[in-house]
Amino acid sequence: MKITSKELRKTWIKFYESKGHKNIGAVSLIGDGTTGVMFNVAGMQPLMPYLLGKKHPMGTRLCNVQGCVRTVDIDSVGDASHFTFFEMMGNWSLGDYFKKEKTAWTFELLTKVFGLDKNKICATVFEGNESAPKDEETANYLKELGIKEENIFYKGKEDNWWELEGTVGTPCGPDNEWFYPLTDKKCSENCGIDCSCGRYVEIGNDVYMQYEKKENGYVPLKNKNVDTGFGFERMLMFLNGITDGYKTDLFNDVISYMEQALNVKYCENAETTKSMRIVADHIRTAVMLIGDENGIVPSNVGAGYILRRLLRRAIRHANKIELKPQDLINIAKIYIEKVYNEAYPQLIQKEDYVLSEIQKEMDKFNKALELGLKEFDKVIFGIEKHKEFAKQKGEIVKNEISGKAAFRLYDTFGFPIELTCELANEKGYLVDENGFKSAFLEHQEKSKAVQKGTFKSGLSDEGEQTTKFHTATHLLNAALKLVLGKECHQMGSNITPERLRFDFPCDHKLTTEEITKIEDIVNDWIKQDLKVTKEEMPKQRAVEIGAEHQFIERYPDMVWVYSIGNVSKEICTGPHVESTGKLGKFKIAKEESSSAGVRRIKAVLN
Ligand code: ALA
Repeated sequence: MKITSKELRKTWIKFYESKGHKNIGAVSLIGDGTTGVMFNVAGMQPLMPYLLGKKHPMGTRLCNVQGCVRTVDIDSVGDASHFTFFEMMGNWSLGDYFKKEKTAWTFELLTKVFGLDKNKICATVFEGNESAPKDEETANYLKELGIKEENIFYKGKEDNWWELEGTVGTPCGPDNEWFYPLTDKKCSENCGIDCSCGRYVEIGNDVYMQYEKKENGYVPLKNKNVDTGFGFERMLMFLNGITDGYKTDLFNDVISYMEQALNVKYCENAETTKSMRIVADHIRTAVMLIGDENGIVPSNVGAGYILRRLLRRAIRHANKIELKPQDLINIAKIYIEKVYNEAYPQLIQKEDYVLSEIQKEMDKFNKALELGLKEFDKVIFGIEKHKEFAKQKGEIVKNEISGKAAFRLYDTFGFPIELTCELANEKGYLVDENGFKSAFLEHQEKSKAVQKGTFKSGLSDEGEQTTKFHTATHLLNAALKLVLGKECHQMGSNITPERLRFDFPCDHKLTTEEITKIEDIVNDWIKQDLKVTKEEMPKQRAVEIGAEHQFIERYPDMVWVYSIGNVSKEICTGPHVESTGKLGKFKIAKEESSSAGVRRIKAVLN
């Protein structure tokens, strides 16, 4: 290795400290609820209030290396460069220096510290649109520094504008991206930064955060800020001339461990390699999420659900390549004790806890797998019997598992279709995959209808009053979380023109103070006349931005997410009022037990 991960961390911090920056360290990976996103997805996220103008206690020049979790691309993990956990090296100017200094420092870091050739550096800047002008200023500084004019490109919003998707009231702006070729050999005459051959790597970006994203446009911020983000894993690969992230020292020990345990060579067999990467990535993220200062555990809601998906996918692939449960524990240990011992010392303190949570989830899922496998054998047995009968009648039955049966294995036992196909294959069977798809779609259509039907029956008429109650229900759900804790959620709801009814988990009768507090919070939100907005998005995305949901597997792929100001976000089919000011006064008319551990609130709007 030309530079190790531990050295790269230090190099980044030392360089920016030499430019007057303070190292603010990393914060929790779990969103604090203020931004509406479930995980920290960018280095700038915890700094949002400061980019918007709040004074930072450590000054106006800051830097760190921040862990991030992004699971939107989970299905791409398995290739050489996708990760669900990654780190971002960042530095910020909070209304301090701007484009001139920033371009000069990034240039200095790349050429003097990392030894890159200025003649090969390429950069892109914003071409301008109705929200912000063409960034000629940055382009000029880049030229003055010695970057060739033909290596500077103007690009549109899609490439050179940075904002947190799906949010409002957040800082954003045009950015300057930096590229470098991995080799001088062009794949064709036109081979450049956009070429699909991957010769050029985007190594990082400097965002000029000078706007706030509003509901319908961008307004200039008081401060002109800089937000720099260089992907840690990517830089580590690039500086070491490696194109496979799993060959960096972050993963070397884990990959070698698997090679030995399995007696295979990494990259020899494509399928095995893919599973090895999935195990390596998902176990790393799980360790980070469970061992985080605000650590979470696998569950069926919210962030816990994402963690569960990650762990189960890792377990499934571990089984596939015949890694044992103890191997997964040993892999987690390598991350905790060897790879991240310096950067994340808290993991060592929580080691036993982290390992036991992983173990628990393995036990649970392996049990479900066991039941599912029994069911699978029954399916095969059924087909064999059918074949015997058919034979007597002179008919031929294919060795094929029906789409319906495959769907049941998926729906009831959590068997992904690939797993069913794989098992079938081993027994010399095929799976009617198209039939599976139809069964899946049919089920989805049904759920959609059920969902609509439920709301219809929940809303005895879709009149003005029931619509108001519907919005009030979302506010109540959000207020309960504030008063009783984040884990509180909707377990049932029913609305008539007279009242709303809401069931939620709670181990005690609410006190008068709690009831008053809930009413006050809801009435305060009503008074603020918060805007209700809706956005259609893929279900997975809705979960990731932290939208409330009940039975995620029952929703269609595309869902509506209703947001109320920034106090509530729920997957829902509506209808809702336009803004909360119209609701009137919220009052809890009754609080009672619904069943063991479940309380029920009936509330009215006066
Ligand atoms: N916020 C920028 C990013 O995440 C720096 O890439």
